[in-house]
Amino acid sequence: MHFSNRLIQWYFQKKRDLPWRNTQNPYEIWLSEIILQQTRVVQGLPYFDAFINAFPTVYHLANASEEQVLKLWQGLGYYSRARNLHQTAQLIVSSYKGVFPSTYDGLLQLKGVGPYTAAAIASFSFDEAVPVVDGNVFRVLARYFGVETDISSHAAKKEFTQLAQELIDVNQPALFNQAIMEFGSLQCVPVNPNCDECVFNDSCVALQRKKVHLLPIKLKKTKVTTRYLNYLVVTDENGFFLVQKRATKGIWLNLYEFPLVETNQEVQVDYFDSGNFQHSFFQNPIETIIPFETKSITHKLSHQNLQIRFWKLTVLGVLENGIQSEELKKLPFPIVLFNFIEKNL
Ligand code: ADE
Repeated sequence: MHFSNRLIQWYFQKKRDLPWRNTQNPYEIWLSEIILQQTRVVQGLPYFDAFINAFPTVYHLANASEEQVLKLWQGLGYYSRARNLHQTAQLIVSSYKGVFPSTYDGLLQLKGVGPYTAAAIASFSFDEAVPVVDGNVFRVLARYFGVETDISSHAAKKEFTQLAQELIDVNQPALFNQAIMEFGSLQCVPVNPNCDECVFNDSCVALQRKKVHLLPIKLKKTKVTTRYLNYLVVTDENGFFLVQKRATKGIWLNLYEFPLVETNQEVQVDYFDSGNFQHSFFQNPIETIIPFETKSITHKLSHQNLQIRFWKLTVLGVLENGIQSEELKKLPFPIVLFNFIEKNL
C-alpha cells in the first residue's frame, strides 16, 4: 500500500483527540501551532485551553495587553512566540479586517509564521496541499526512506520538503500532515521506537539497514553558554519589593525580574559586602544581605545554562518604587523566578 494511505490508516486508529483537530478555524489552528512550536502536546494543551478561554477570537487577543498575554504564556518559554502572537493578532485586526490570509504564501507574511506554521494552517484550515516539515517529519522520512542528509543543513530542508510534497495526499492534505506528525510523535519516536509493532516495518529502510537509532543525522550541535545570574530580592521596612521589566534583547524580553547582577562566575556574599558593589537600583542604605539558598539553581534553556542565585537584601527606609508581593505575583515572570516567588514571598 502507498505510504500516505498506510500512514492515514494508522492515524485513524491511533490518533489522539486534540482540540485543535476538531476545527478548521484558522485563529485556533494558528494559536495551537504557535504554542506547539518547541513544546510537547501534553505541556501545550492547558495553555491552549487557557488562551481560547481568555481570548476566544483574534479580536480578544488583539485587545489584550502584552502583559496579559505574557502572563498567560508564563512557563511555556521562548517568549518571543507570545510577543509575536500578540503583535500578529493586532495586525490581523488592523490590516486584515480580522480575517487570516487563506493561502500558504499569504500566511508566510505574518510575523512568527515560518514555512512550517504556514503549511500547518494552510492545510488544516484551507486544505491547501503543502507539507509540514518539522522535527517529527524529518525523523519519519529520514528513517523510512533512509535519507542520510544532515538535517541541520540548509539543503535538508529543501530535500525533505520536496520528498514530503511528493508524498502528500493532495485530496486530503490536512489528514496527511496531521498523520505524519502524529506518527513521529507517537510511533517513530526519537529514542527506542517500537519497530516490532510498526505498520512500516516491512519497508522501512532504516530498519532494514539497522540504522533506526542513527537517523536522522544531525551534525550541528547547539552551543550552550553558562551564565551566572544573581537576583537581588530587595525588601524595605514595609516588606515591599523591587522589580524591573527586562528591556534587553535576548531571553525574557518584557518579562519582569528582580534587580539583576550578572557575574562571570558564582559569587559569595562578600562580593556584595565589599563596598565595591556599585549599583543604581535604589538609594536606600543596605541593612543586610544573605543568600536564600546555599547553592545556585540550574535552569536550562536551549542555548543557555543559567546558574541562578537569589539574595535577600534588606534596606533601611522605604523603597521609592516598592511593590507588594500580591501585586508582584500578577506580573509575568520567567518561570524559574515565579517558582521562587511562590515558594518564598
Ligand atoms: N505538533 C505541532 N503541531 C501539532 C499538531 N497539530 N498536532 C499534534 N502535535 C503537533
